[in-house]
Amino acid sequence: MANRELSRGVTIIGGAMSHFGSYPDKSGRDLMAEAYTDAVGTVDKGIDTNDIEALYIGNFAGELFERQGHMGHIMADWLGLVPRPSTRIEGACASSGLAFREAVIAIASGVYDVVLAAGVEKMTNVPVEKVQDYLAAASDVPYELDLAAFTFPGLYAAMTTAYMSKYGASTEHLMQVAIKNHDNGALNPKAQFNSTIKSLMEHRVERAIEKGSPKPGWRDEYDFLRDEKSNPIVADPLRLMDCSPVTDGASCVILAAEEVAKEYTDSMVNVVGTSQASAGPFTTWGSDITSIPSARLAARDAYAMAGVTAKDIDFAEVHDCFTFAEIMAVEDLGFFEPGTAAFASSDGETSSVSDRPINISGGLKSKGHPVGATGIAQIQEVWTQLRGRAERRQISHKDLRLGLAHNVGGTGGTCVVHILERQ
Ligand code: COA
Repeated sequence: MANRELSRGVTIIGGAMSHFGSYPDKSGRDLMAEAYTDAVGTVDKGIDTNDIEALYIGNFAGELFERQGHMGHIMADWLGLVPRPSTRIEGACASSGLAFREAVIAIASGVYDVVLAAGVEKMTNVPVEKVQDYLAAASDVPYELDLAAFTFPGLYAAMTTAYMSKYGASTEHLMQVAIKNHDNGALNPKAQFNSTIKSLMEHRVERAIEKGSPKPGWRDEYDFLRDEKSNPIVADPLRLMDCSPVTDGASCVILAAEEVAKEYTDSMVNVVGTSQASAGPFTTWGSDITSIPSARLAARDAYAMAGVTAKDIDFAEVHDCFTFAEIMAVEDLGFFEPGTAAFASSDGETSSVSDRPINISGGLKSKGHPVGATGIAQIQEVWTQLRGRAERRQISHKDLRLGLAHNVGGTGGTCVVHILERQ
């Protein structure tokens, strides 16, 4: 497919996420207001919000989780931005990655100069069984759900099993991804699990002692993760600590045409690659379900648009809805050869101090995964890192120029990849 260039430069001038977690007293619109207020506060030279000309809102299932469909105008009203055009965009867990891409295209086309792209999902107000039922609406319902009774953990478990059997990886490799992402998330004050797995384990030991229960005998976090009581199977071989959690949250970025962006900031970070691809359900991929075709294509086209290769990317936020999904993502993005990423991750090649840190925010695993908000939460992390403003989790051992965000809907029915460059 032809890979086109953006007709003019697009710069991110502001961005933030709400706290991610379980907030029984907050609605999706409250979380959106939190993210928006913080995002406006990050614009270096300030912004008159009347400058914002349009909104693109990523949301997967507001009508199921909150009985709120028709989300675009609600958010415009709540943020004080009516009567500006506001469009809700749905692409399962890639909803806000798509919203961001539409905002980029709208600015590049010349229709708007300043646009808000945002994402939101309120999930924790319904029981987990219902959450899984609603999420399953993002699968191929008549076949994967009604006929085969797959849940999302089940679908990713099938992909994990295929990878393990093809390449000889084990659940110990998955544990390493969870440990790394929790280590990163422990430095992210807005993460749902702002805690290492070791601290979660120590907390469990303290609770057992308080309750007068027998003291668990875990020697280290691996022991804790191997224990079926502390880390139960969700969909074999995926366990609790392999899963992203159920999360409430919102995320926002403000974009401007490069030619007007200097009115708002001198710290320019531009979108140099935007790409999206689709795939059928994994039953249509042929015999190999260890790699997502839409992710490989979206990566290829984003690199081509940016005029870079995988080797040039300094760090990335990737869609680790399950630990195995991170392993697959870094192979699909070309950072590692097929079948090698599980082993490379365990050797520390994706750690916060590696040549190419992966999921420095904590990823979906630790930061949380409010599905419609995830794509823009990834992008605002990449933007924050490129500006050197990520505080305790700032990547400081290397000079950052190019960061990438990889956002997947379903098991890869939709994939969107963005590349940002510090100017
Ligand atoms: N990772 C780590 N810990 C988790 C967790 C997760 N994903 N989910 C819950 N926990 C912790 C809770 O904090 C709680 O700890 P505590 O006892 O110390 O307070 C404990 O596990 C039990 O929490 P609970 O909310 O009862 O868990 P649950 O069994 O209802 O839900 C999952 C666990 C894995 C089923 C749920 O998080 C889930 O469905 N995740 C996948 C979401 C998903 O499919 N997203 C889309 C991907 S494409």
